[in-house]
Amino acid sequence: MKKYCIITLIILTLNGCQTSVDSFNNDSNVINRKVDSLLSIMTIDEKIGQMNQYNGFWDVTGPAPKNGDAKFKFNNLKKGLVGSMLNVRGVEEITALQKIAVEQTRLGIPLIIGNDVIHGYKTLSPIPLAEAASWDLEEIENSARIAALEASAAGTNWTFAPMVDISRDARWGRVMEGAGEDPFLGSLIAAARVRGFQGDDLSKHNTIAATAKHFAGYGFAESGRDYNTVDVSKNTLYNIILPPFMATLDAGVRTFMNGFNELDGVPVTGSLFLQRDLLKGEWNFDGFVISDWGSIQEMIPHGYAKDGAHATELAIKAGSDMDMESHLYIKNIKELVESKKLDIKLIDDAVSRILRVKFELGLFDDPYKYLNAEREKEVLYHPDNQKGVLEMAKKSIVLLKNKTNLLPLKKENQTIALIGALANDNNSPLGNWRTNSDNNSAITVLEGMQAYPKNKLIYKRGADVNLNKGGVVKFHEKVIINENDKSGFSTAKSAAKNADVVVMVLGEDGFQSGEGRSRTSIGIPGVQQELLEEVYKVNKNIVLVLMNGRPLNINWADKNIPSIVEAWQLGTQTGNAVAQVLYGDYNPSGKLPMSFPRSVGQIPIYYNYKNTGRPGPKKEIFWSHYNDEVNTPLYPFGYGLSYTSFEYSNIKIDNKNLTPDETLNVSVDLKNSGNYSGKEVVQLYIKDRFASVTRPVRELKGFEMVSLNPGETKTINFEISESLLKFYTANETWESESGFFDIFIGTNSNANLKESFELIK
Ligand code: BGC
Repeated sequence: MKKYCIITLIILTLNGCQTSVDSFNNDSNVINRKVDSLLSIMTIDEKIGQMNQYNGFWDVTGPAPKNGDAKFKFNNLKKGLVGSMLNVRGVEEITALQKIAVEQTRLGIPLIIGNDVIHGYKTLSPIPLAEAASWDLEEIENSARIAALEASAAGTNWTFAPMVDISRDARWGRVMEGAGEDPFLGSLIAAARVRGFQGDDLSKHNTIAATAKHFAGYGFAESGRDYNTVDVSKNTLYNIILPPFMATLDAGVRTFMNGFNELDGVPVTGSLFLQRDLLKGEWNFDGFVISDWGSIQEMIPHGYAKDGAHATELAIKAGSDMDMESHLYIKNIKELVESKKLDIKLIDDAVSRILRVKFELGLFDDPYKYLNAEREKEVLYHPDNQKGVLEMAKKSIVLLKNKTNLLPLKKENQTIALIGALANDNNSPLGNWRTNSDNNSAITVLEGMQAYPKNKLIYKRGADVNLNKGGVVKFHEKVIINENDKSGFSTAKSAAKNADVVVMVLGEDGFQSGEGRSRTSIGIPGVQQELLEEVYKVNKNIVLVLMNGRPLNINWADKNIPSIVEAWQLGTQTGNAVAQVLYGDYNPSGKLPMSFPRSVGQIPIYYNYKNTGRPGPKKEIFWSHYNDEVNTPLYPFGYGLSYTSFEYSNIKIDNKNLTPDETLNVSVDLKNSGNYSGKEVVQLYIKDRFASVTRPVRELKGFEMVSLNPGETKTINFEISESLLKFYTANETWESESGFFDIFIGTNSNANLKESFELIK
């Protein structure tokens, strides 16, 4: 306790005796002075401790640590050799750990507590990919806010989110965790998430530090296999991969996480270019960089570091400030400094960055500010949070097909057969990456549909998704696919035969996507596809509700099934959201953030591809195409229908010549030509006809969500300025180039209302 007073004294002196917890002085000069004075009294061991993060090791409410590793970690905590912990949860447990850090160590420096709060803490939002399908930045920000409210009430003050990795590969399991394939949409969403987590003042007790991850290139793992080699050009790196990271920086993100992958032959954890030169140099980032789990140590199997000491040296020189679970900094830094292999200035820089964020969070003012058991009880699963995630869930749903207007379902006098294990699953809809939440806590589709009691609802399981039979699937448990049991087919078919409408909920288990969950075939898993085809034989009035964490191959369904709804994994309120959309209480408005391929062979597939010298489609052989498949995706980026219909017309541009000091306006008329009120995401794409490096066939550069009543028309305006036309040019600079541009406006990335202009510089 005495030592805590030393720190408190320094802080109070520098604060001018300001003590109020939530009016903490976050002025950066004041914080820098506090950091410097604290650093000046720290021993090298204490500095190294701040750079060391441990996974949870101690059950504070139970017996003392059992194994050697736990004991070792626990002793280090008591010695002041731990700066941060992850995977410790809840006020009780974190208070016990914080007390040790603050009251038993020499300097009493508080721990920063990190956790993967990816799409909610207890109350879960849709998986991030699903949220991206809403294109609703305010709702996405609010969803992150809810996550921050709950996480902070339960003692977490730092989330390892948002993941802003762009990916064009549906085989990669972690696409569920990102915002899809597009850097423009991805950047806006990344910034919205950071704002949601961090709020307007990091020192408040209900805001948490965010992390932009994984820096950089992780989403481009070869063949979609997790952790695989990444080999991309500078052109792709700067134009596609880096923009969302820059957006988080502009939004004030306080930490970055590196990753498991290599880039251009260098593991990113050891990349001087990415971390020291670009992020901390050119971009002037003054927060800190955390390694990914064990990624410093993984530089050895990568063949980049010869041993642990070498890995430590490389990581620190490169700018990795905190070691997550490699246990190498604690082991090697001191000797590396003493033998002059590492300059102490690098250590001071890393420690300063970490302390800065701790000061910004207000942890030195009150290390227990996130640790209020009453608040924890009050905030977790709060009804307002449930309401918020329900809104987010409804907005995330994408209507892929509604050919015979089976949807919305009639609310009375219908017999509805509901089929599929996922329809009665309260775990899978939670998706992956929700280690803080409770298993089996989702509202099922069956429960959601039971809220419409004037229809007769018959539920049949039909077939399982996997061998876990809907039970608890542990986070790291391997999911076994290919359940072959077809014994439920016949009762499902009988129910379907006598129904007016069949709703089939099919797709992936909640743990079939996420980290380490790459797949080589991305069809509907197991015998579910066969079940769909069998049921179709007895009743063609099928609404297919897809539940999945990645784009799936659904060619057969697209050809045969009249209505298809993409419901992803929508979190706690899944069943209510799905039912409200199926019954038309919410008119779907989502748009795909990732192309749906026709086959795995088309992957990587994305709308902003390059034209090539031999663009298609043509009938001859020698052009860029497949002999057995068309080039286009099954559903393009930006695609999504509504229960109403929209007509676009009358594209107008007010100026055909744009100069850097003015803007031009392009407008379009949008009419609701159907029978329901609805929302449409009006999308604007720009094509740069030629440039110093080849440019994509088109790029999303704007969108607006418009609500229209039946028969109503609105004019939508977009402003275009020179800054929107910048890209990473042959000069290796972010700039615009003079020349001609085409504009396309419409309902998805195939938008074809066209105008053109010239940029004159
Ligand atoms: C993941 C990170 C995550 C970390 C901590 C790693 O395996 O790649 O994204 O934040 O674990 O759970």
